Amino acid sequence: MHKLSLDRILQSQGFGTRKWCRELIEDGEVSIAGEVITDYRTVVDTGNLAFTLFDELWTYREHIYVALNKPANFECSRKPSHHPGVLSLLPEQFTWREVQPVGRLDHDTTGMLLMSDDGAFIHAQSSPKRHVPKLYVATTQEPVTPELIEKMLAGVKLHDEPAPLVALTCRGLDAHQLEIVLEQGKYHQVKRMLAAAGNHCTALRRTAIGGLTLDALDLEEGEWCYLNQLQLALLA
Ligand code: URA
Repeated sequence: MHKLSLDRILQSQGFGTRKWCRELIEDGEVSIAGEVITDYRTVVDTGNLAFTLFDELWTYREHIYVALNKPANFECSRKPSHHPGVLSLLPEQFTWREVQPVGRLDHDTTGMLLMSDDGAFIHAQSSPKRHVPKLYVATTQEPVTPELIEKMLAGVKLHDEPAPLVALTCRGLDAHQLEIVLEQGKYHQVKRMLAAAGNHCTALRRTAIGGLTLDALDLEEGEWCYLNQLQLALLA
């Protein structure tokens, strides 16, 4: 059982500074199970807690784990420079909670992006020691050939990598589309591997991480969802 005062709870959920959260409570904007609570010192059990703020129902979450179907022209960096940041696609309080992307997708890459405010989770997911397969669908400028697939599977040498990088699996989907599974997450890896193999990637979409597929999440581009324990277990 984890008990906290209501102002601390609101602050932990990203609704602003402690002072601001106290004001919200005193103004009668917060209720629990239909009862408006105006004393911010009220101690509440966070287990299975749901509360209403500005008439919207929220569930208390110690940490946030979400999957976003990233559209093109959004940047994953914390300080985006040329395009809006992916955080602008999530509720504002996630920024207060310091939710961050788990790894990076290029600004023009679409598809599954995990985001969280759990540092240990982000660290574990991003560790190079972790071999979680990531599935990409790449559109190519030149036609897909058996030689291209062979090269991707045999390994291609990138100028700043000591050893050739290999695709775990690689298969043609149509004349200009490839499905590629990678275990590493090097900078621009798919695009650079395709370039080194003599083609050019014109569009890239990440469709799965581990056993978690974008199809199963059923998200439109720009939509996101919370991930439950079962879905998180598929990332292992
Ligand atoms: N490989 C790339 O080239 N870009 C991405 O965004 C992800 C993998």
